[in-house]
Amino acid sequence: MNIEENISLKDYNTFGIDAKARFFVETTGLAQLQKVLELKAYPKKFIISGGSNMLLTTDIDALVMHINLKGISVVEESEDAVEIKAMAGENWHEFVMWSLEQGYGGLENLSLIPGNIGTAPIQNIGAYGVELKDVFVSCAAMDVETGELVSFDKDTCNFGYRDSIFKNEAKNKYIITSVNLRLTKNNHILHTGYGAIEEELKKNEIIYPTIRDISNAVIAIRKSKLPDPKELGNSGSFFKNPIISKKAFDKFIKANPTAPFYEVDAKNYKIPAGWLIEQCGFKGKRFGDAGVHEKQALVLVNYGSATGKEILDLAVKIKEEVRNRFGIKIKAEVNIIK
Ligand code: EPU
Repeated sequence: MNIEENISLKDYNTFGIDAKARFFVETTGLAQLQKVLELKAYPKKFIISGGSNMLLTTDIDALVMHINLKGISVVEESEDAVEIKAMAGENWHEFVMWSLEQGYGGLENLSLIPGNIGTAPIQNIGAYGVELKDVFVSCAAMDVETGELVSFDKDTCNFGYRDSIFKNEAKNKYIITSVNLRLTKNNHILHTGYGAIEEELKKNEIIYPTIRDISNAVIAIRKSKLPDPKELGNSGSFFKNPIISKKAFDKFIKANPTAPFYEVDAKNYKIPAGWLIEQCGFKGKRFGDAGVHEKQALVLVNYGSATGKEILDLAVKIKEEVRNRFGIKIKAEVNIIK
């Protein structure tokens, strides 16, 4: 195995932050991954996969293990459904495109999400009315202490809104090595209810959409408001949409009658953080090379050479303004590495 020293992680995180890895190793197989974990000479290890949900605010004084496990296979299939196993290092969007080429349904609403398969369960990726948990069967993960492979089923993963066991009790304890998903072969369940999807299909005069039509609509919507990390460093939504109590919501909506909101259940309401941030005047604002995207205030961007610290300072400023103006606490969705 080839352990390199002082490697820039700029190409390994979608924010494009030029933090350095003290040591760096590419891992392409399970046996090799186990061997790297056993290396006593490098007691501190740090896992990086698609790098699409992290903000590096400092250099990493550890052995950075880049998870580059590849492969897609069919585990079992029936007339109507198929279970697919995808290795952690497969690119998420390329996998979605592959599934559509096979005619498999279930992932179309999750088109164009940056990142890799292995990171998808950590934050239960979601978009346009669908979350990973809707197609998730299980994932395999390697215990970083013992090198043992463990299987996590859907219940054990404890998925929530941008949340799972891997952000809580199991944080930093496992490396997800593969994910099994159940997709439909026919009688696809279409999720077209999200306003922007309906509008996009209508615009293209599509009355009976296929899974491919939905994917195309999602791609068009995302491209219209979310920056491509290859062109402008970013990590998707930087914050989660806050969920507030009915009591707090009643007060909020009285003071802000035009605010968009979603009812989570009888007791809880979700407010789009993008709206709150826009109201505070941050949309499209730039502070050096750190900025707030001009088309979606929930997305922080790196115009080129921003440091992770500069992006973090901006995030803190936004959080404070939102708190002062609305009395609502917003929390980062992105994993901040300090
Ligand atoms: N809004 C504004 N100003 C903005 C952005 C949004 O007023 O700058 C308003 C919109 O007008 C709309 C509402 O906020 O009324 C919701 O906006 P949008 O549909 O763009 O969705 P979002 O809540 O901002 C969430 C996810 C996205 C996902 C979309 C679509 C989170 C944290 N983000 O964004 O996920 O693509 O819904 O389902 O839940 C991601 O996680 O990285 C991500 C991009």
